[in-house]
Amino acid sequence: MSETPVLTADRGAVRVVTVNRPDKLNALNAATLDALLAAFEAAAADPAVRCVVLTGAGPKAFVAGADIAEMNGLSAVQGRDFSLRGQKLMRRVEKMPKPVIGMINGFALGGGLELAMGCHLRIAADTAKVGQPEINLGLIPGFGGTQRLLRLAGRAATLELCLVGAPIDAARARELGIVNRVVPAADLEAETMKLAEQIANAAPLALRGVLDCINVGGECGIEEGLEYETAQFGLMFATQDMREGTTAFLERRKPHFSGQ
Ligand code: COA
Repeated sequence: MSETPVLTADRGAVRVVTVNRPDKLNALNAATLDALLAAFEAAAADPAVRCVVLTGAGPKAFVAGADIAEMNGLSAVQGRDFSLRGQKLMRRVEKMPKPVIGMINGFALGGGLELAMGCHLRIAADTAKVGQPEINLGLIPGFGGTQRLLRLAGRAATLELCLVGAPIDAARARELGIVNRVVPAADLEAETMKLAEQIANAAPLALRGVLDCINVGGECGIEEGLEYETAQFGLMFATQDMREGTTAFLERRKPHFSGQ
């Protein structure tokens, strides 16, 4: 078994976080959940990191779910705590102050799809399969799946995925809006890095403004959401990057954003 459940590597301003239990299809046990949380805390705190790519090690899986062997021995109270542990991680990913791209290189099932749905953008290999198969184990999604899938893909698709439990292919996931893009498996890494680098070159405070507005807007009424957007929009005028971006446009040159 791999000793380090999560690997991190920097490619310029892009931090690549890799779930590293390929022999268990990157299943999320408690140690992996904790290691992922630590990796995201570190990426959030590091100003040199402007975008995060999350993926799974090995050729088969992004993450094939919560660790079934570990769950098998849990009591009800421990099961509840396991759910809270997973939900805390997905919420941390969702609330990251910089964009997180899920690079879905294979199975994203159960906790794997829940982790992918915590990401802000999802790119899937055409060979990937996603689903919420917990029903087949006498379980339900417990890391936010019933709630995030509902918001992402709507009631009909969520009910189908969670009640039937059958995985769907990447093309169907794209149709349902569960993933943003589907690319040939051989191009997945290059396409994801291209997108990540593009995002990493954008103004960090504006990226954060977008993330904050959309996170808030997804959870409140329209009036409150619009008010929040106005406040964030106004805040942008206090940034050097807004001056740089608008000036660069007027001077017909490329902007260089400092994150100030
Ligand atoms: N938890 C723990 N171990 C898992 C796992 C999970 N969610 N998913 C896969 N594994 C392990 C298998 O037990 C196996 O371990 P072993 O070699 O020690 O026996 C190894 O990963 C490889 O999986 P295997 O099932 O042999 O691969 P496969 O290609 O035949 O099937 C899947 C792939 C994804 C279809 C299958 O592994 C599967 O259905 N996994 C569970 C998916 C699931 O229900 N997730 C939701 C959990 S709440």
